[in-house]
Amino acid sequence: MGLLEGDVALVTGAAGGIGLATARRFLDEGARVAIADVDAARLAGAAETLRADVLAVPLDVTARASWQAAVDAVVDRFGTLTILVNGAGISEPADIETLSDDAWERHLAINLSGVMYGMQAATPAMKASGRPCAIVNIASMLSMRPGAIFTAYCASKTGMVAMSQAAALHFAHARIPIRVNTVHPGAIRTPMYERYIAMAEDRAAAEASFAATHPMGRVGEAEEVAEAILFLASRLASFTTGAQLPVDGGGHIRD
Ligand SMILES: NC(=O)c1ccc[n+]([C@@H]2O[C@H](COP(=O)([O-])OP(=O)(O)OC[C@H]3O[C@@H](n4cnc5c(N)ncnc54)[C@H](O)[C@@H]3O)[C@@H](O)[C@H]2O)c1
Repeated sequence: MGLLEGDVALVTGAAGGIGLATARRFLDEGARVAIADVDAARLAGAAETLRADVLAVPLDVTARASWQAAVDAVVDRFGTLTILVNGAGISEPADIETLSDDAWERHLAINLSGVMYGMQAATPAMKASGRPCAIVNIASMLSMRPGAIFTAYCASKTGMVAMSQAAALHFAHARIPIRVNTVHPGAIRTPMYERYIAMAEDRAAAEASFAATHPMGRVGEAEEVAEAILFLASRLASFTTGAQLPVDGGGHIRD
């Protein structure tokens, strides 16, 4: 029996990268899965690659109405919602001197407010499910160990972790069976990583520099993050809430 038999999962940011790898892993474990992303065209392509009965829901995480429509669509299609993975996110480099207001607002809207709206939209459906539920929010190694050129990203992700832990405490105190945990990837080979590599003048040097930020000497793969998300979403983590799980080859403790 799969680890997620009977579960219904909504995974955001699932047009590619970590979200899509997570959706695929969840399907392997018997979940019914809805994938969501603001990029509807790429999302449709992603749904086709999954070769399964997935629901593809267009979603802009910065809009409450969009969130409500997505959760309603999942419940209409699958009858319930028991797992939410907040994978949608952006990362644009800027240090404190060069950061623009626009970039700051965009990071907070997508990486922080978007997760808050998602948790609020999912909670009533999860409470109605009558099953143990889980929320997994994708933070970053950079929320444990900030980097100078990731000012807005670090701020948004660190705020999101604090919010996730407050939510974990609330649900635990109220005896509401929703666990909330965060996963902290290091550099992972996804479209987001490729955009950083493409900005560099010397591709090989940029790849080597990312690899060097991890004591294990390489960058990670989306499938390796999906395994950690699966653990936190499943009954294997039934007594784990408010945790921060790094998936970064030791990057957060590098010397
Ligand atoms: N790749 C890495 O190195 C890395 C490292 C640490 C953390 N992360 C985090 O992992 C998560 C997944 O990133 P990824 O690496 O797969 O990148 P990605 O760029 O492939 O995926 C992010 C997805 O979020 C979607 N998105 C952006 N804005 C959105 C919005 N307003 N509403 C809905 N969807 C939106 C994008 O269309 C994209 O498909 C992100 O939260 C990212 O911050 C990634």
